[in-house]
Amino acid sequence: MEARGIIHSQNITLLAVIVLSIMIALMVTTPDFLSKKRDSEVIYTNIGNRWHKIDLGAFSIETPSEFKYIKEQGIDSYVGLITNKIDTFYFDYGWYSNELDEQGFIRSYDTINGVPAITVFSKTGGAGVHIPKANEDNKLTVFSSTLHKELAFDIFSTLKISGRNGRTTKPLGEKFIQGFSKGKQLFNTNCNVCHALDIKLVGPHLRNIVQRTNREWFVGWIQNPTQLIKTNEKAAKLFYEYSEMKHPVYQYSKEEIEDLIIFTEALEK
Ligand code: HEC
Repeated sequence: MEARGIIHSQNITLLAVIVLSIMIALMVTTPDFLSKKRDSEVIYTNIGNRWHKIDLGAFSIETPSEFKYIKEQGIDSYVGLITNKIDTFYFDYGWYSNELDEQGFIRSYDTINGVPAITVFSKTGGAGVHIPKANEDNKLTVFSSTLHKELAFDIFSTLKISGRNGRTTKPLGEKFIQGFSKGKQLFNTNCNVCHALDIKLVGPHLRNIVQRTNREWFVGWIQNPTQLIKTNEKAAKLFYEYSEMKHPVYQYSKEEIEDLIIFTEALEK
């Protein structure tokens, strides 16, 4: 009895090792091990006569009906081409999607269907969208070097993070989306004459300013810079560094401050 029991459990262990080895071998030798499955999940739905929606599982996009999805091989991410054989755009969904920050790209901050996004185009051709937080971990980039800019943005503006098959772990909340658009508006009407998110202009860059400093610092500069400079040595230093330029004062509500913070943090790199 004893002996048989041992043989039995050895067999099970052996079987488990074999199955596991086959799975690992498959994943190592076929990079599209996963994307093959995804391939069959693409769903086309007509929208009127001339456009259709291409649902790629993690997200969907609407294009003229001639455009079809072609699989590419991506190991860490979900990569593909969508083409009508004349024009093509690619997408890349994963941890390391291209951030579209090459020189010559004209970038602007936006939202696409409520999700913070960076839109870019190049005067020499090329248009794209980068969504830094398509979900918690994954970024999404779509880009075309051939599509006419207007058509490109007509198509890209239909991007929806769909989360079919549970791939989207955490959709952005309504509060966040509203906060972002209000914050963006406040920033564009009041701050961006002097501040940009990523580069120094008249004043310092402000991306993730609260994460880099703290809330009191942020609120201090906006609501009472004179007091801040008087009581905070670092603030005085910054003030002198910027040629003693007096900071404009804003009477913002708590919500407005919150919205500005959401905006400066939403497109975290
Ligand atoms: C007229 C130009 C100007 C405008 C408009 C302006 N700022 Fe500033 N800001 C500066 C300058 C210059 C500094 C550096 C300190 C100084 O000289 O006052 C600064 C500093 C700051 C700092 C500290 C930055 C750091 O690196 O620690 C914050 C935060 C800030 N500004 C937020 C804002 C916000 C938010 C707005 C819009 C509501 C705004 N500023 C509008 C010119 C401006």
